[in-house]
Amino acid sequence: MKETVILDKKFMEMISGDEINKRIEEMAKEINRDFKGKEVVFLGILNGAFLFTAELFKKIDLKARISFVKLASYEGTRSSGSVKELIGWNEDIKGKVIIVLEDIVDTGHTLERIIGELTIRNVAEIKVATLLFKPKAYTKKIPIDYIGFEIPNDFVVGFGLDYDGYGRNLPSVYTLIK
Ligand code: IMP
Repeated sequence: MKETVILDKKFMEMISGDEINKRIEEMAKEINRDFKGKEVVFLGILNGAFLFTAELFKKIDLKARISFVKLASYEGTRSSGSVKELIGWNEDIKGKVIIVLEDIVDTGHTLERIIGELTIRNVAEIKVATLLFKPKAYTKKIPIDYIGFEIPNDFVVGFGLDYDGYGRNLPSVYTLIK
């Protein structure tokens, strides 16, 4: 069992880098198939989704653009539930097909906020893809169209996800050892 220490906490490997990359390839194939012949704008949610976005985007075979926005709702290992300022909108997305890319959907507060912002910008269609999803923590009704892995309601790090800013560079996803 692969273990790692970040600051004061111990984590063990839950999903290997190989499994993640294989799954991202499958997700990209699905998106390529579902949007064949259409133009798509991918919207990566920073900071966590930067690796997922990069890996997925390389495998997209569509007329596609990419943009990033930033919004943080997390401090330490528990979601604060309060959502902060949204920054980085610079694309004209009116009338476009948007695929929101999240590293993880936990309570869904972040996603709800993003979808709200997209709705007032009159986009044609909104889809959501997330690498990780915690179904037991999810409190919203917004459908999630592409899910990499459903995981238990535990704190995870790696592949873009952090614990107080650290661990984003880990190529696998690690779960907290309690
Ligand atoms: P939500 O708004 O509760 O769905 O949380 C979404 C954001 O919280 C994600 O984009 C992550 O940045 C962060 N987050 C949620 N769960 C975890 C976790 O287990 N590890 C690290 N960050 C997390």
